Amino acid sequence: MSEEKNKRDNLPWVEKYRPQKLDDVYGQTAIVTTVRKFIEEGKLPHLLFYGPPGTGKTSTIVALAREIYGKNYSNMVLELNASDDRGIDVVRNQIKDFASTRQIFSSGFKLIILDEADAMTNAAQNALRRIIEKYTKNTRFCILANYAHKLTPALLSRCTRFRFQPLPNDAIESRIANVLVHEHLKLSDDARKALLKLSKGDMRRVLNVLQASKATLDDPEKDEITDETIYECCGAPRPADVTAILKSILEDDWSTAYYTLNKIRQTNGLALIDLIEGMIELLEGYELNNELTRIELLTKLGDIEYSISKGGNDRIQSSAVIGAIKMSFENEVKSS
Ligand SMILES: Nc1ncnc2c1ncn2[C@@H]1O[C@H](COP(=O)(O)OP(=O)(O)OP(=O)(O)O)[C@@H](O)[C@H]1O
Ligand SMILES: [Mg+2]
Repeated sequence: MSEEKNKRDNLPWVEKYRPQKLDDVYGQTAIVTTVRKFIEEGKLPHLLFYGPPGTGKTSTIVALAREIYGKNYSNMVLELNASDDRGIDVVRNQIKDFASTRQIFSSGFKLIILDEADAMTNAAQNALRRIIEKYTKNTRFCILANYAHKLTPALLSRCTRFRFQPLPNDAIESRIANVLVHEHLKLSDDARKALLKLSKGDMRRVLNVLQASKATLDDPEKDEITDETIYECCGAPRPADVTAILKSILEDDWSTAYYTLNKIRQTNGLALIDLIEGMIELLEGYELNNELTRIELLTKLGDIEYSISKGGNDRIQSSAVIGAIKMSFENEVKSS
């Protein structure tokens, strides 16, 4: 028992706190209720779970399978994910072998979980549609994906779709309340707000950031995690830093602004793209005389963000950020 517990304690938190039962899945009540009903009525259709990362897709189907099969899990469930080779041959052979063998231990259907199915080639997805039809008598498929549009329409039409929304704040809060007690951790109010904001409904991110934050504490039993720690662990800029940069761009000359921006970026190890995100957030609520300023500015920052994601040079793009903001505000002054 203690060895088992030790093993669990050493796991990364995302695994340590992975829901074991459907009841442990937070914030997806509508989906869990519907799926449970299917099971109770013995009418499970082929399922498609899709939605952003860290919202509980894999956890839900694994918990569901555990509830259905208990200790027969390994005989009755085939899990395939992107780390397995899922070229067309695997679909043809492995799935076929599993789906076509009769079950000896229990009646009912087998379950094939195709995790990260949007990473499968189109050819493999196409091979799948015949197989799904052929083995529907004794097998159910559950397809998991981040993006439904990356799946072939034929596959989509064979499944009942469920979209996993980013977890609502109250669901995340009740989940972390649980984790904090287990880990003897405290979280300041600001830290909690920062964590909710930065995680954007991704529970995996929440757990990873919390675990990283705990590691930075000197005395985890006494110390409280602050918002500083949270921002640091996310690599996100603190609001105070974003404000300081914006202030410098608006009030100082070009070279001072450029110096300030790079200084803050370097000391905190920030990526320009995260800084832009922070600025956009700030500017969206900024009080302005002329709404056109905001429109123009947000469009320009959006373009810069796109250029960075396409591999644009950081130094040039930093100048572009300063230029965009200075120019838009210049027009604001003129027009007021
Ligand atoms: N609804 C939830 N309730 C409780 N914990 C959750 C929930 N969603 C995610 N988690 C936590 O986050 C971790 C990752 O969740 P999971 O693997 O189910 O995400 P996913 O939706 O499959 O993401 P991906 O699209 O990246 O595969 C889990 O180990 C669990 O600890
Ligand atoms: Mg998953």
